[in-house]
Amino acid sequence: MFNKMTVRDIEVKDKRVLVRCDFNVPLKEGRITDETRIVGAMPTIEYLMDQGARVILCSHMGKPKGEFVAALSLAPVAGRLGDLLGKPVHFISSAAVVDEEVKSQAMALESGEVMLLENTRFRPEETQNGEGFSKELASLAEIFVNDAFGTAHRAHASTVGVTAFLKPAVSGFLIEKELAFLGKAVEEPQRPFVAVLGGAKVSDKIKVIDNLLSKVDGLLIGGAMAYTFLKAQGIAVGSSMVEEDKLDYAREMIEKAKKSGVELLLPIDHRVARSFEDVPAILTQDASIPEGHMGLDIGEMTIGFYQEALLNARTVLWNGPMGVFEFENFNKGTLAIAETLAMSSATTIIGGGDSAAAVTQLGFADQLTHISTGGGASLEFLEGKVLPGIEALNDLKEEKQ
Ligand code: 3PG
Repeated sequence: MFNKMTVRDIEVKDKRVLVRCDFNVPLKEGRITDETRIVGAMPTIEYLMDQGARVILCSHMGKPKGEFVAALSLAPVAGRLGDLLGKPVHFISSAAVVDEEVKSQAMALESGEVMLLENTRFRPEETQNGEGFSKELASLAEIFVNDAFGTAHRAHASTVGVTAFLKPAVSGFLIEKELAFLGKAVEEPQRPFVAVLGGAKVSDKIKVIDNLLSKVDGLLIGGAMAYTFLKAQGIAVGSSMVEEDKLDYAREMIEKAKKSGVELLLPIDHRVARSFEDVPAILTQDASIPEGHMGLDIGEMTIGFYQEALLNARTVLWNGPMGVFEFENFNKGTLAIAETLAMSSATTIIGGGDSAAAVTQLGFADQLTHISTGGGASLEFLEGKVLPGIEALNDLKEEKQ
C-alpha cells in the first residue's frame, strides 16, 4: 500500500539531508506543553544520525504570516531536541530562515551532527509554495526527507516546492507509520470495523462521514455534531449547537448508512446544562433535550449503548471528543470511550487533533494501538484525499525500474 521510498532505501552516509518535521507543538510562555510530535520525529532523526548523515531539520510553528514573530521561534524545540538526542542541536534564529550564516553552518556540519532551521513560515513564500524559497531550502542539502505527517496536507515550499529541486525526496519513518496504521484501518480493516466520530461541527467531518460510510460496519456519533443529526430526525435538541444548513446532509447520511447496511448510532440520552459552563450536568431521560438546555456530553445510557457496540469490534477508529471534555462535568463520555478503547483487544486508532489531546490528557495514550500526530492531515486522509506532501515523494517502483 505504501509505495514511497523511505530513508531505508537510500545511502545517507556523510550526505547533507534536509528533513521536514512537524514541530508545530503547543507552547505556553515559551515552554512546550505536549512534545508528542517531537518524540514522533525521533526515530528518523536518530536513524540518520546513526547512519552518519549531516542532518538539517526544518519545520513551521503556528501561523506567523510571513513575518518574524519571536514567540513562534523554534528555539524551544531546538533546546528540547538537544535534550532528547543527548547532543546539542545547532540553531540560528534567522528571520530569513536561510541566510549566509545558516548556509555556512549547514556546509560545516559534521557527519552525525544536527541543526534546526528557524520557523519556515517566517518567510511569506513558504505558504505560497514559492520557487525562490524552495530553491534556497534545496541548496542546503543533497537529499530531502519528509517526516511531517501533520503538515502533509499543505502544499508549501518546505513540503512540496523543495522536492522539485532536491532529489531524492523520500519519506521518514513517522509518515510511513502513520500511513501504515491509518491506511490499513481504512482500506484493509479487520472486521467488524467501527468508527467513532465526535467534535463540534458536522461541517468539519462531512467528507469523512461520507467516505467512512462506504468502509465501516458501524458508525457512532457523539459531540455537538450529534445534535444536528438528532434534529434532522425531528428530535428536540433545546438550545444545543445545531448547524441548520447541514440538516439535509445529516438525513442523506442516515439514508446512506441504511442503504450500505452500516449501523449508524446516535446518542439516546445526554448530559445537559442551561449554559455553556462547567456546572453540574443534568441527565436527560431520553434522546430529546428540554427547552432552554444544551447538550454538552453523551449520557449514561448512551455510554453503555456505545460500549456494547464497541465490544465485538476488531478495528476502531476514533476522531473527535464525545462532549466538552475540557469541562470536568462533561468529560464522562470521552473518558468512557477512551477507557473502552484502552481495554479493548481491537486495533485502536486515534485520528489526531482533539481526540489525540483527550486520550493523552486523560492518560490512555500508552494503551492504544496508534495515535496520529496529524490534525487536519489525518482528517484529509480519512476523507480519502491524496496528501500533497506525500504525493510529491519519489515512488518506490519508479526508482527500481
Ligand atoms: C497542525 O497543527 O495541524 C499542523 O502542524 C498544520 O498546521 P496548520 O494548520 O497551521 O497548517
